[in-house]
Amino acid sequence: MRSAKAGRQTKRLPEADPTPYGRFTLWVTGGGASENITAGRGRPSVADEDVRTPNGDNQGMVLHDLLARDHERLDVLLERIVRSDGTVDVESDAEFRRGLLRHIGIEERILFPLLRNDPAGARLIGQLHRDHAALSALLVVPPTSAEVDAIRAILARHNPLEEGSGGMYERAEERAGEALSEVIGRVRSYPEVPLARHADTPVVRRSIAQLVREAEEGWRLLDAERGMGN
Ligand SMILES: [Fe+2]
Repeated sequence: MRSAKAGRQTKRLPEADPTPYGRFTLWVTGGGASENITAGRGRPSVADEDVRTPNGDNQGMVLHDLLARDHERLDVLLERIVRSDGTVDVESDAEFRRGLLRHIGIEERILFPLLRNDPAGARLIGQLHRDHAALSALLVVPPTSAEVDAIRAILARHNPLEEGSGGMYERAEERAGEALSEVIGRVRSYPEVPLARHADTPVVRRSIAQLVREAEEGWRLLDAERGMGN
């Protein structure tokens, strides 16, 4: 078994990404089959399986619906990770980690670039990116109810920023214009993410605390700008 550090050194993302999101994605993802978590591996995600219209095709399915349904699937998985007796459902944990990292990858790699020239979207993307960094970091350590609570709290604010009126999905659909079906095709074919095993070190814990703080500070600033500050 290779260490998380070794996986971090060898696993490369499609594009260089020096950001916290990229750093922690490298940390969470594995570099080879021997360290992959295999539970549930190979199952189609909701993005591939549950977005079909009743007649079995995807006509009329928009980007928003595709990714909002994936949010719903991830919400269900999150609640299954830590059982009421405190034990961990390993399969749900692996499925959630893999699914959330894929979802974040889709947004960072496919949707954010659509909004790069949208000045009004820059602040939105900044906060979504900070949330992604904190979420990715929280996936590194073995899950307890504390990590599940922290992830739930981030997603409770994060997902509406994507799904809501004027949110990221709506803006991305507008920006994609006639290329929307091509964008949806790229989203649907975005690869599964191989996972490294959990790691728990003081460095990881400090990084999680820092990234969660940065996400919370970003939200405070965003709320203040919207006149919701306290
Ligand atoms: Fe997101």
